[in-house]
Amino acid sequence: MSLHRISLTVNHFPEQVDVPANMTLLQMLREKLALTGTKNGCAAGECGACTVMMNGEPINSCMVLAVECDGAELLTVEGLARDRQLDPVQQALIDTGGVQCGFCTPGMLISARGLLNRNPHPTENEIREALAGNLCRCTGYFRIIEGVRKAAEMQSGAK
Ligand code: FES
Ligand code: FES
Repeated sequence: MSLHRISLTVNHFPEQVDVPANMTLLQMLREKLALTGTKNGCAAGECGACTVMMNGEPINSCMVLAVECDGAELLTVEGLARDRQLDPVQQALIDTGGVQCGFCTPGMLISARGLLNRNPHPTENEIREALAGNLCRCTGYFRIIEGVRKAAEMQSGAK
């Protein structure tokens, strides 16, 4: 199969990648860019484990073709921390014990970051809605929701 060259920004850095027409964004991240933090849970748009930010919006990377990402700006879990400083959603999930096996965590973190970017002070219901597409097979939802609530407080400077 012929390859298509795409140019995009991944985790704040420009990249050029040659991809087959049928390669998903999830496959490209994991197989071409070695960004294996993004997980493959169902490959069918059901579990949210593959969630990444595309042009500022959380999306299921298993449902997007890599060629569709030409010119896009992508953020994966590997790009959340900046200047050796964890993103508040990362720190808060650690603090609240919201990580068990960790398989859902990268997708949860990206969905949570997307929520807090568009709504810095979400209600519990808004947090639940934003994470509704992210399944946790360890079922640690309470602590994850608590973590996102704490992240909102941390980034607004509340104690
Ligand atoms: S791996 Fe993409 S939604 Fe499950
Ligand atoms: S922490 Fe195990 S799947 Fe969520």
